[in-house]
Amino acid sequence: MADAAGPFYIPMRVFDFVRRLGRKPSKPPPAAVAYRPRDCHSHVLWGVDDGARTRDEAIEMLRLLRQDGARRIVATPHIYPGRFPNEPGPLRERFEELCRARDEAGIDVELELGAEHFLDETLVRRVEDGAHVCFGPERYVLFEAHTGPTIPVHLDDAVRAIVARGQTPLLAHVERYRWARGEEGWEVLADLRAVGVRFQVNRTVGHVNVPGEGSRGRAIARLLEEGWVDEVGSDLHRPTADGRPDPYPSPAA
Ligand SMILES: [Fe+2]
Repeated sequence: MADAAGPFYIPMRVFDFVRRLGRKPSKPPPAAVAYRPRDCHSHVLWGVDDGARTRDEAIEMLRLLRQDGARRIVATPHIYPGRFPNEPGPLRERFEELCRARDEAGIDVELELGAEHFLDETLVRRVEDGAHVCFGPERYVLFEAHTGPTIPVHLDDAVRAIVARGQTPLLAHVERYRWARGEEGWEVLADLRAVGVRFQVNRTVGHVNVPGEGSRGRAIARLLEEGWVDEVGSDLHRPTADGRPDPYPSPAA
């Protein structure tokens, strides 16, 4: 049977083999984001944000995360003024319902309530008033910032307020932020670590984030190299492989 490359097919393969022999061995890729028994970032609380929509969907998500290796799942619903105006009291009530649903479904996983606080001008006051939610022995306060190129205006003040309460700021999905890229961005991240901020990165259910895949993958690779991946979360919004919510008009999720 005639080959598309015609008489050049075999010589080209030989040429390619010789070319590969002369190449220096490539640097091994950095280790991928490892599974952790505690999932620090998930939207399994139903009916409060863009995560689980129903009790059944929440149960499906708990099962999926349990099958995926999670032993403890921190529910981190959005507290996002203007979009998801949640308050700790009602979130605790829904969390109790989630715990009962888990028991009835017989899912062997520990649950804890946290929140994903949006960094804006209201967060400092919220922290000072104790109207926020922290979790874990680290007393983590998970917070997310906008993803644009400029350093968030209220970042320093919010970090200071959290640290002043003896709690630990945990920056959500650090790999997403354009303001944290480039040499200037890495200096900002180093400064944040120096004052006690810890970093969470996202993984995808069913597989780890592979460093090198796009700008987020490159950011994760560098975070791993620096030893700056403190916590890992699924950021699961749906009981699906990618777990993403319905699209928003704006980029935060
Ligand atoms: Fe999230």
